[in-house]
Amino acid sequence: MIALGVTFAGLNEKEDMSLLSSSVMRKFAMALSGLFLVVFLAQHFVINITSVIAPDVFNQWSHFMGTNGLVQGILQPILIFGVVFHFIMGFVLEIQNRRARVMRYVQYKGGASASWASRNMIISGAVVLAFLGLHFYDFWWPEIMHKYIETHPEDPTRYYAETVHKFENPVRVGLYATAFVLLALHLWHGFASSFQSVGFDNKYAKGLKGFTKFFAVFIPLGFLFIALYHHLNPIAH
Ligand code: HEM
Repeated sequence: MIALGVTFAGLNEKEDMSLLSSSVMRKFAMALSGLFLVVFLAQHFVINITSVIAPDVFNQWSHFMGTNGLVQGILQPILIFGVVFHFIMGFVLEIQNRRARVMRYVQYKGGASASWASRNMIISGAVVLAFLGLHFYDFWWPEIMHKYIETHPEDPTRYYAETVHKFENPVRVGLYATAFVLLALHLWHGFASSFQSVGFDNKYAKGLKGFTKFFAVFIPLGFLFIALYHHLNPIAH
């Protein structure tokens, strides 16, 4: 990350400030998209945990999410845009940071004292993105096939069994588990840092940071629990 207040010798003050402000704006946009994805993750977890505690509720909510016009026509495209935006901006910031390092900025936040999670956001992000590819293939694509290509009649009771069947395969469970660990590391640094990037700095900042760390561990662990639970409690076809 570029440290504020650092000037590169080759730039005049005006150029330096505009470089800095565009970097701050990108970080701001990155943080907002990240916060939006965190909200999605929380609601996704709440719906998915019902597959363990109340399968009928899981079926009802999944059917609602999969058929409601507002969710499908507006929220889903916004979500896809949010994921793509976050991914592209992540790469842009990474390239920018690498350039800054090459140009030998005197101060650089990613030094030896920074945590593994903060130095490797691009790696953890890429693993989560790869997971999303697999996850879309597992859940989103069959849904599209079912609804729009094979045009089966609506069946509000099918979601629970379809989800549990997915976790029969131990290789899939292993890949999901790996991705959840990397998701935890990504959130560990990213969620807390997003509040800094949007300038949230008041008496609640410390408590909020504690909450972000809790969320970063609890939610991926919760997803892991769901995957393992269904793997260990299969249902007949
Ligand atoms: C055990 C863990 C998980 C389960 C059981 C699960 C289950 C599902 C299911 C059933 C769908 C299909 C929704 C539809 O009908 O279109 C879905 C979609 C999706 N999931 Fe997951 N999910 C899990 C973890 C995750 C994680 C960790 C992420 C993000 C890092 C994620 C991101 C998504 C996204 C972006 C979609 C597409 C949303 C949409 O179609 O609107 N999921 N998931």
